[in-house]
Amino acid sequence: MHILVTGAAGFIGSHLSQRLIAEGHCVTGLDNLDPFYSVALKRRNLAEIALSGDQFRFIEADLRDDHALDEALQGVDVVVHLAAMAGVRPSIERPLAYVDVNLAGTVHLLEAMRRHDVRRLVFASSSSVYGDQRKVPFSEDDSVDRPISPYAASKKAGELICHTWHHLYGLTVACLRFFTVYGPRQRPDLAIAKFTALIDHGDEIPFFGDGTTSRDYTFVDDTVAGVSSAVGWTGAETPQYAIFNLGNSSPVPLSHLVELISRAVDKPAILKHFPVQPGDVETTYADTRKAAAALAYAPKISIEEGISRYVSWYRALEAGTGRT
Ligand SMILES: NC(=O)c1ccc[n+]([C@@H]2O[C@H](COP(=O)([O-])OP(=O)(O)OC[C@H]3O[C@@H](n4cnc5c(N)ncnc54)[C@H](O)[C@@H]3O)[C@@H](O)[C@H]2O)c1
Repeated sequence: MHILVTGAAGFIGSHLSQRLIAEGHCVTGLDNLDPFYSVALKRRNLAEIALSGDQFRFIEADLRDDHALDEALQGVDVVVHLAAMAGVRPSIERPLAYVDVNLAGTVHLLEAMRRHDVRRLVFASSSSVYGDQRKVPFSEDDSVDRPISPYAASKKAGELICHTWHHLYGLTVACLRFFTVYGPRQRPDLAIAKFTALIDHGDEIPFFGDGTTSRDYTFVDDTVAGVSSAVGWTGAETPQYAIFNLGNSSPVPLSHLVELISRAVDKPAILKHFPVQPGDVETTYADTRKAAAALAYAPKISIEEGISRYVSWYRALEAGTGRT
């Protein structure tokens, strides 16, 4: 199959592209190398994908560039749409950018898919759509009408707009709600990447709340295995629309996460305490039974194993030898 991966130069997109190439697919990646974080990291991710084989072509372009989308969609069977402004806290600073890329950008893509008669889409949504829900685990049937950040609202809006193109034009859409994905190449703004570097350098780590907030951290290999299954799921004969949680069903409190990283880095964590941030939720916890049944989704990597793999990768990178 020929698969278009938007956001291919990013953290999840680069791992996914490598996996799809290894599975024998042809991948076109589209990414504008947004400077939200280091462009050098994104170029390194692209170089790693290129090493996976010659079944990869890259288009550096913005999702909202219709001509680029027309070029990118030539011969494509399935689209995996990962390109987005990501991150909860920055979305409070720049809400318009989030609406523009995550919502308007998604409509540019859906319209281009309609023009090119590409009918299979996997859309990257987020556990943040559950808002500050206390009922756990989070199930796809729970009401998600109370997002508490512009980012979360933009992801929920993305799910809705994809449903509209499913209804009007017969697209088959799998919306995947990712739960805090981590692993090698993780976005530097996310907790595990940030804490590892700060602890290693002997710097204070910003510690929000009393340490009881928890996240359902999911190792990136498990997430991309789920995305790859969803690519197959979109091949159903009649148009389908479904939402799946891709989490680990094992929330980890912040204080335990810091302990694990400190142990793996073998240095003490120096905490600088702050109150819980606006937009942050208390917990995330995925009910993954629906994904298990439909996508054979079965996450395998424990947080202990995942942190150990992340820190090994970090060490190799710091030593300058790192294949990522
Ligand atoms: N990492 C997580 O924990 C997590 C959790 C839930 C959902 N998600 C979603 O998964 C997807 C991938 O996340 P990630 O962590 O790999 O983030 P990332 O920032 O590493 O990757 C996103 C990529 O999209 C690109 N991009 C941004 N705006 C673009 C535009 N206008 N045109 C073209 N490309 C553009 C960026 O340059 C980047 O390479 C995103 O949709 C994100 O919202 C991630």
